[in-house]
Amino acid sequence: MASSSSRRRLAFLATLVCAIAVSVSGGGGRERGPITTNGGNYTKVCDPARFAAAGLDMAAFRYCDASVPYAERVRDLVGRMTLEEKVSNLGDRAGGASRVGLPAYLWWGEALHGVSDVGPGGTWFGDVVPGATSFPLVINSAASFNESLWRAIGGVVSTEIRAMYNLGHAELTYWSPNINVVRDPRWGRASETPGEDPFVVGRYAVSFVRGMQDMDAGGNADPFSRPIKVSSCCKHYAAYDVDAWNGNDRLTFDARVQERDMVETFERPFEMCIRDGDASCVMCSYNRINGVPACADTRLLTETVRRGWQLHGYIVSDCDSVRVMVRDAKWLNYTGVEATAASMKAGLDLDCGMFWEGVHDFFTTYGVDAVRQGKLKESDVDNALSNLYVTLMRLGFFDGIPELESLGAGDVCTEDHMELAADAARQGMVLLKNDGARLPLSSEKINSAALVGLLEHINATDVMLGDYRGKPCRVVTPYDGIRKMVNSTSVLACDKKGACETAAATVKTVDATIVVAGLNMSVERESNDREDLLLSWNQANWIKAVADASPTPIVLVIMSAGGVDVSFAQDNPKIGAIVWAGYPGQEGGTAIADVLFGKYNPGGRLPLTWYKNEYVSKIPMTSMALRPDAEHGYPGRTYKFYGGEDVLYPFGHGLSYTNFTYESDTTAAPVKIKVGDWEYCKQLTYKKGVTSPSPACPAVNVASHGCTEEVSFTVTVANTGGVDGAHVVTVYTAPPGEVDGAPLKQLVAFRRVRVPAGAAVEAPFTLNVCKAFAIVEETAYTVVPSGVSRVLVGDGALSLSFPVNVKIDLATS
Ligand SMILES: *[C@@H]1O[C@H](CO)[C@@H](O)[C@H](O)[C@H]1NC(C)=O
Ligand SMILES: *[C@@H]1O[C@H](CO)[C@@H](O)[C@H](O)[C@H]1NC(C)=O
Ligand SMILES: *[C@@H]1O[C@H](CO)[C@@H](O)[C@H](O)[C@H]1NC(C)=O
Ligand SMILES: *[C@@H]1O[C@H](CO)[C@@H](O)[C@H](O)[C@H]1NC(C)=O
Ligand SMILES: *[C@@H]1O[C@H](CO)[C@@H](O)[C@H](O)[C@H]1NC(C)=O
Ligand SMILES: *[C@@H]1O[C@H](CO)[C@@H](O)[C@H](O)[C@H]1NC(C)=O
Ligand SMILES: *[C@@H]1O[C@H](CO)[C@@H](O)[C@H](O)[C@H]1NC(C)=O
Repeated sequence: MASSSSRRRLAFLATLVCAIAVSVSGGGGRERGPITTNGGNYTKVCDPARFAAAGLDMAAFRYCDASVPYAERVRDLVGRMTLEEKVSNLGDRAGGASRVGLPAYLWWGEALHGVSDVGPGGTWFGDVVPGATSFPLVINSAASFNESLWRAIGGVVSTEIRAMYNLGHAELTYWSPNINVVRDPRWGRASETPGEDPFVVGRYAVSFVRGMQDMDAGGNADPFSRPIKVSSCCKHYAAYDVDAWNGNDRLTFDARVQERDMVETFERPFEMCIRDGDASCVMCSYNRINGVPACADTRLLTETVRRGWQLHGYIVSDCDSVRVMVRDAKWLNYTGVEATAASMKAGLDLDCGMFWEGVHDFFTTYGVDAVRQGKLKESDVDNALSNLYVTLMRLGFFDGIPELESLGAGDVCTEDHMELAADAARQGMVLLKNDGARLPLSSEKINSAALVGLLEHINATDVMLGDYRGKPCRVVTPYDGIRKMVNSTSVLACDKKGACETAAATVKTVDATIVVAGLNMSVERESNDREDLLLSWNQANWIKAVADASPTPIVLVIMSAGGVDVSFAQDNPKIGAIVWAGYPGQEGGTAIADVLFGKYNPGGRLPLTWYKNEYVSKIPMTSMALRPDAEHGYPGRTYKFYGGEDVLYPFGHGLSYTNFTYESDTTAAPVKIKVGDWEYCKQLTYKKGVTSPSPACPAVNVASHGCTEEVSFTVTVANTGGVDGAHVVTVYTAPPGEVDGAPLKQLVAFRRVRVPAGAAVEAPFTLNVCKAFAIVEETAYTVVPSGVSRVLVGDGALSLSFPVNVKIDLATS
């Protein structure tokens, strides 16, 4: 959402919404806040006083009877509404129906890495809530590979939202997380995502969504009435990861995608988010997939999300996706009425729109005509509304949730919340290079330091907050953080033409030189993909000059979301250490200083491959396939398929100030899968030249198998160095080498453990064979291949591996 042009539209919109808010104002007041629907006057729709104030008797409205099941209450509510009233509630600025006591509601909220005020005003800062905790961007938190952290962040964000809701500063529905896989290193939205690996992205989604949604009590067996703290939304479904590149625009882009890639890569995080995270919302994307707009695709929305994965919640469009079908993609030359009917029939429940040429969103504009012209059933409208109101009931919008009603301004920007933001930033820092143990710096030995770079990085009040920000509680810049460690820190500002006044002279006189360099949102952001992977604005030139002038090897800190080709620094002995700091949020400066000066031993890992710049000339961003393509000479994408030379730092790379070793108890016993005669074997394609006879059952179809087989082992991680440290154990599987077109390896488990110096801890793993050893074969079946797979623990210098021979026994019937 919110491209730069749409941002302008939004600014314009913000003024308009105030006017509209009055016209759509339902039974609830909205006097206090500028444009929230509840205005702080109530925290539940079914408050008798609200009805009394509106001249209605609540007892007459069965939908407010808390003893009645949600489905029936919603039927009652929707049944009372006229077609016009119903349709006026199908857009993100839902009008409510004051006649029946239903207030207006603003569905659009954002909470990507903290409560954000992006959107039409349902969430806003000011007076009693001037700001909210701004966590690192998601790509940083992802680098921690720590699921408890991800869940804790979701928990804090939802607490701050509920507090703001109670004060009339927020609504209850948030369109986060962004879980599209970073298929191409140029994608402008890498900062918003957990990286390139579908499994990590999926686990991030599950953890964040559970933190946002789950109530401590839990225990409610019925998923359609399980209470949720805040509604979280997995977006953008699906195969969306081209924003604006080389004349291709996300609004008109038609992603040509193979079914195998859909199942294996593009859909996987969404499936995990819904099945394992029980997210209450999915957002469909702008792009088309093989010709069909994602938001009008019955197979994607109804068959896959709602029926296949059993979504308990609603499906919303990305903002303007329906308009885009008509205005931009000119899909089938559809009219507004036709696009509205097609999308709703496909399973879309709510249309988010952005004001343009007098129209907010298509559903509320064309919905009545679509029904009256016979293109849409009124019962389709009823279904959409039911999905929406059941979600609001679970949120306590109608009845309240007593245990959350005491949260207030004192629960936003607490010391604990800000400390979690600092910890998240620390946990996500990645030590890329550390020659001769240049880091950590000693604050005892270093009496003077030079801090060199663009002011926007050194004094990063803005850059560290990235996109979909709110108003932070405060901002600790790198300068603030480092000055606390070294009192005499001089700032040497460079400009974007490549000049740094006096830097070369000054760095000669100090004990340590720290360069903070990187990118900003003008290089990588929504609606703006990158052209290359280089460090912008000639920074490499002056970094080399500063390094040359410095008597000691300098330390380089990189702020960016995507990978940056810093080969020049990796190869340069005058640059002793490189730290990737991402866009680390409001506490970023503290975290950077803690890592540089050894108050925290870094343990983060890159959640995406850092390629050399040559990579991007070998494959256009618009080629969606993950596997190498010999016909076009494309080299393949992500660590799972790219086996070429253009990797600067691999996925999962990250150093420590200490050393770790592994030991494992594996016995490498074969796994037997007994296949009953009602189950299906699938054929596999083998590499050319493989002579071994293909087995009777080459692979078992996971969907037809019980999948109880497991492989268990324990990795003992010993810290053999001198300082405590966190270590991420990554577990991959590599399919049998003879199988054609399989991933080189795939991550199937990970765990971040804390190991004191001189100690060892055990990390036990249990891999389900159908999950960990499965591959997606050519025709898009998920299968476990017969033959010798390998388990690979860790990578690079620190790794161990063992074979797992999968033997498939055909039952003889
Ligand atoms: C909301 O509350 C304020 C005072 O708390 C009051 O002045 C205003 O009239 C109320 N609005 C409605 C619609 O009840
Ligand atoms: C859409 O309309 C244009 C102009 O009238 C026409 O050339 C084109 O073939 C139509 N496309 C479809 C899919 O009907
Ligand atoms: C990012 O860089 C662009 C281009 O130099 C500049 O206009 C913009 O102000 C920078 N953004 C920040 C937050 O410094
Ligand atoms: C850095 O930011 C602070 C506010 O945090 C401001 O007072 C100071 O002037 C800035 N420094 C420069 C050189 O812009
Ligand atoms: C920093 O240096 C100044 C001036 O030399 C001194 O007054 C101040 O106490 C020092 N602060 C710290 C924290 O050492
Ligand atoms: C890690 O081990 C290597 C050699 O095995 C050694 O050179 C290095 O100093 C050790 N690093 C730390 C931080 O202990
Ligand atoms: C993971 O994150 C949690 C929550 O912030 C933290 O308490 C824990 O120490 C982290 N684990 C490791 C090994 O760093």
